[in-house]
Amino acid sequence: MPRVPIRLGLDYNSRMPRDSKIKISLRPATPADAEAAAALMYETMPTLGEYLFGQPDAAGTIRVLAGIFPAPGHLLSYQYSTLATFGMEAVGIAQVLPSNDMARAAIGLARALRRRFGWAAMLRLIYRGIRLANEPDTEPGEYYVNTLAVAPAWRNQGIGARLLEEAERRGRELGLSVLSLGVLLHNTNAKRFYERVGFREALKYETRPLAPGVKYTGFYRMVKPIDRTDRKSK
Ligand SMILES: CC(C)(COP(=O)(O)OP(=O)(O)OC[C@H]1O[C@@H](n2cnc3c(N)ncnc32)[C@H](O)[C@@H]1OP(=O)(O)O)[C@@H](O)C(=O)NCCC(=O)NCCS
Repeated sequence: MPRVPIRLGLDYNSRMPRDSKIKISLRPATPADAEAAAALMYETMPTLGEYLFGQPDAAGTIRVLAGIFPAPGHLLSYQYSTLATFGMEAVGIAQVLPSNDMARAAIGLARALRRRFGWAAMLRLIYRGIRLANEPDTEPGEYYVNTLAVAPAWRNQGIGARLLEEAERRGRELGLSVLSLGVLLHNTNAKRFYERVGFREALKYETRPLAPGVKYTGFYRMVKPIDRTDRKSK
């Protein structure tokens, strides 16, 4: 099973030298990608994941993410996931779904957690996550980027931009006209990245902290119109 090195420094803003010769491919994820995908997904939710899933550390949260990834029909499922790969190695992930499916996919997440980890895990997620579910990061009729992450050693080489281009292509196919996402207020590198690739800030949402030690005080809602002119994907 391919492994992505897990970096626990919580440094959102590191950069690696760019190498224009690397050959990255994109493909839909499968349930068998759970372990690598979970490590990548974790990059978007340090401390928040521990809180929502009741885990003591990153390793515990990644174990939970890997446990639910193979189930279909929920926010963090393989079903909504595209992987960027270098050979056999998964180096990036995007999880994107129509915003109109968000409520169903959120309920699906609770259900997947119950099936895999039991009632207590599900009830904890509902109790701790209900506030997040009602926040204004998306509007009806959009294609919502729920997760975007590139492994630390692979950043700054255009992989995140490629994954977003692919999301835009699929959004266009679905007839949707806006890509949207929420980026945490402290994640300055990612916000600048989204602006570079054509997103603009539609809302700054500040809220009281979820819990002590949890890096979550709100987000920027970012949107990008989907270019409706037909283009071949790269
Ligand atoms: C945000 C994230 C997904 C970006 O992925 P990435 O693969 O590093 O992104 P890219 O390489 O496409 O773009 C990074 C930078 O290189 C630039 N770039 C990309 N391709 C380029 C190219 N061909 N030529 C020149 N510059 C390029 C981008 O403009 C961007 O510059 P900036 O940092 O000054 O804005 C990645 O940093 C990450 O995983 N972060 C941690 C998880 C996270 O925070 N996710 C977002 C949650 S909302």
